Amino acid sequence: MFENQSLMEKIISLAKQRGFIFQSSEIYGGLKSAYDYGPLGVELKRNLMNEWWRSIVHEREDTVGIDASIIMHPKVWQASGHLAGFSDPLVDCLISKERFRADKAPRPKSGDAIPITCTDKGQAKTYLDTIKKMFNIELRRNGKILEGLKVIDKTSFGFFNEDEKEAITTFQYKGYVSPTFGSPFLSDERQFNLMFRSQIGPVDILGDISTFAEQNRDIPREDFHKEIEKIIKKSAVYLRPETAQAMFVQFQNCQQSMSMKIPFGIAQMGKSFRNEITVEHFIFRSCEFEQMEMEFFVEPGTQKKWLKYWRDARIDWWKSLSNNPEKFRYRLHSKDELAHYADACYDIEYEYPWGFDELEGIASRTDYDLKKHAEYSGSKLSYFDQQKKDPETGKNGWRYTPYVIEPAAGATRGLLVYLLDAYHEEIVPDANGNESTRVVMKLHPKLSPIKVAVLPLVKKEGLPEIARDIVTKFFNNGINTRYDEQHSIGKRYRRHDEAGTPYCITIDGKTKENNTVTIRYRDSMQQERISIDKVIDVIRKKLTLS
Ligand code: GAP
Repeated sequence: MFENQSLMEKIISLAKQRGFIFQSSEIYGGLKSAYDYGPLGVELKRNLMNEWWRSIVHEREDTVGIDASIIMHPKVWQASGHLAGFSDPLVDCLISKERFRADKAPRPKSGDAIPITCTDKGQAKTYLDTIKKMFNIELRRNGKILEGLKVIDKTSFGFFNEDEKEAITTFQYKGYVSPTFGSPFLSDERQFNLMFRSQIGPVDILGDISTFAEQNRDIPREDFHKEIEKIIKKSAVYLRPETAQAMFVQFQNCQQSMSMKIPFGIAQMGKSFRNEITVEHFIFRSCEFEQMEMEFFVEPGTQKKWLKYWRDARIDWWKSLSNNPEKFRYRLHSKDELAHYADACYDIEYEYPWGFDELEGIASRTDYDLKKHAEYSGSKLSYFDQQKKDPETGKNGWRYTPYVIEPAAGATRGLLVYLLDAYHEEIVPDANGNESTRVVMKLHPKLSPIKVAVLPLVKKEGLPEIARDIVTKFFNNGINTRYDEQHSIGKRYRRHDEAGTPYCITIDGKTKENNTVTIRYRDSMQQERISIDKVIDVIRKKLTLS
């Protein structure tokens, strides 16, 4: 079915065909980087997020959960630094017009050649001419590659004749090249805010803007922009770019209402929005996505211990639901990678088809956020520990601003990880004994969208009635079950293999004779007969123990 496709292409095809993920607004041509979770996708996403909630909130005494508004007071984003700093440096390639993030671009070092790699010879000829016109140099074309450029030092690159050590011409080097073509001919960096802005309130600001524009036709452009920005800012609100900030803002309410003692955590999962410049790899990076985040408040000085604790706890959790635990690893951030609020950070990475990349960040966020929100709101966001002595005064009782460890995971990114992890192909004999490829999604039963499929062998002889009766019993026990009578039994098994359904219960002629059904196991394809009276208990036990 998915021959000759890369793993990513196979996942995208299967996700659509089996109802996991669809392109958003597909009948209108789709909206870039927006996705809809279909009948199986919504179940998988909920199961994954519920498992996270269970391990972080329900199974711990030291955490509580919240569900905050997506739109918060704009001052939240001023205090957190998102309004000022939540932006990426963007650069344009002057030759190809490619736009990219400077901080993610490849960085050739002194002495390295800078080949400009085009998609084909035709494009190489065009770029050769463009470079000649713009910079008065004629690079050497080798098929689709343009040669002759080399990094001289941190701030300059040059055009060199073959075998010559001295550059004919030198140019200013920005320290990186464009990711697709490797071009060093680049514009200056420009900042770009990643937050989605909207307006709150019934008054349409377009009226105020047009009145201002009519009355101020002659003012300088820069002043005009500043004034328009002021009008917009009066009612501007932002879609949250992370779920994290609500936990800082509600720190005091949660701590006091639930009498929480440090160390304790506040968790939240839900939608976040970022106007990403590069949307890539299917749902890996999209503009609307879901996060699962926790802020764990700790005593100052204990953050290193807790950072390691959460790093290990979180990677173990990801591994526990996977078939390939060796594909997860953690990586310590270097100093220059750290966000402005962090004194240390680990990324939990997964080995995607394009290599190891981020799945979750575990950041030691210091007391930055609570202090900032205290400063901007005027509220006291501190904690008083009666049992401890103040280290400065030596007196009983210590009031301090807690430090924070933040495990911040992507729920939709996690879903992609488990789709990749589950995808499995094997050659098995079909009904006629011929070799055929079986695609099976080896999802952990806790994540599987459908836990049990109940299949009458034929649509007659009372088998559908028996099957429906079993389905009702599963429903009454809260086990997500599907009744399925379409197509041959072999095709149904294959369909449920691709849906990741771990157990199929088949009702056949013998069921009526001796009150038994077969259970077919997705991964081994083995079947066993059990009494119809035991079927709920058997499946329930298997699901609990899995
Ligand atoms: N509160 C900290 C924070 O939001 P982050 O590293 O920007 O940190 C945490 O995001 C996680 O959210 C990432 O590790 C990733 O799994 C997920 N994530 C971030 N941006 C995303 C996007 N555009 N699309 C999908 N998932 C994203």
